[in-house]
Amino acid sequence: MGNIKIVGVVGSGQMGSGIAQLAAVHGLNVWLLDTDPDAPSRATKSISNSIHRLISKGHLTKASNSLSLSSFCCFPAIGAEALRRLRCTSNLEDLSAADVVIEAIVESEDVKKKLFNELDLITKRSAILASNTSSISITRLASATARPSQVIGMHFMNPPPIMKLVEIVRGADTSDETFNVTKALAERFGKTVICSQDYSGFIVNRILMPMINEAFFALYTGVATKEDIDTGMKLGTNHPMGPLELADFIGLDICLSIMRVLHAGLGDSKYAPCPLLIRYVDAGRVGRKRGIGVYNYAKVTEPVKPSSRL
Ligand code: NAI
Repeated sequence: MGNIKIVGVVGSGQMGSGIAQLAAVHGLNVWLLDTDPDAPSRATKSISNSIHRLISKGHLTKASNSLSLSSFCCFPAIGAEALRRLRCTSNLEDLSAADVVIEAIVESEDVKKKLFNELDLITKRSAILASNTSSISITRLASATARPSQVIGMHFMNPPPIMKLVEIVRGADTSDETFNVTKALAERFGKTVICSQDYSGFIVNRILMPMINEAFFALYTGVATKEDIDTGMKLGTNHPMGPLELADFIGLDICLSIMRVLHAGLGDSKYAPCPLLIRYVDAGRVGRKRGIGVYNYAKVTEPVKPSSRL
């Protein structure tokens, strides 16, 4: 189980493409799968741009048999090498040789369970099945497979190539071996690992999402403008991004799904999602990825620097 050479990543949106990039630049062969036919070209372009940005800033250098984030070294071949290790597919069977599969699809328990059931049938018996879910129970995802001891949460922060943290979530039956191999993989990617038990929202989103939801309530009830709410939290509490700006960066659909999981899983009305958050999602205003959320990005010329993430 420990000798990981091939990684499958399912879902090539903002998180899946970043996870695939990390695996490829750290010397692993990667299959990146998505059901959207336009996704592979979008993901390849975003990965290629991201690698070139990291190289040009001197953050990506060659180290022994993989690549590391450290001091500058000129390696235009680094990007090409990593991209050569990355293959896109829409055929689940291509993941059959993977040693570990990391799922990063839509935040829906039913859709994820169906995928875990299919992955269980096609991957080799020793493979670890990991989920990048922000909040959904790993124990329940594991119950869709015949290998619950090999199912684990591997929660990267956004964007995965930059953010230092991976929150590892142990399901009720996750084995020590699965935990140790997953932790070693995250460390190979240069990440610091924290471990959470399997309760709704785990550590980071259990604390972050109620704050974001409260910022929506402040806006909804007319406490202040969106700009003042964000400026208040940035300058008043030293957060790198305001909560509404951060919600747009994460995706309002993802924030709403997480609040619903917290509400259902912890059973406390304090987790009820703000009606304004629901209304934005219903209207398709899901944040930066659609060009409009709390803010309208059609007007933005300079990208906001990501620095604090889910
Ligand atoms: P996204 O919407 O950018 O990408 C999701 C991708 O999954 C899309 O390309 C979609 O076509 C694909 N997809 C959907 N169903 C699929 C299926 N059955 N099989 C294959 N591909 C499928 O979403 P994002 O933001 O990348 O989130 C993905 C997961 O990562 C979610 O579980 C989310 O909660 C979690 N996450 C999100 C973070 C964020 O800041 N957005 C941070 C950490 C975790």
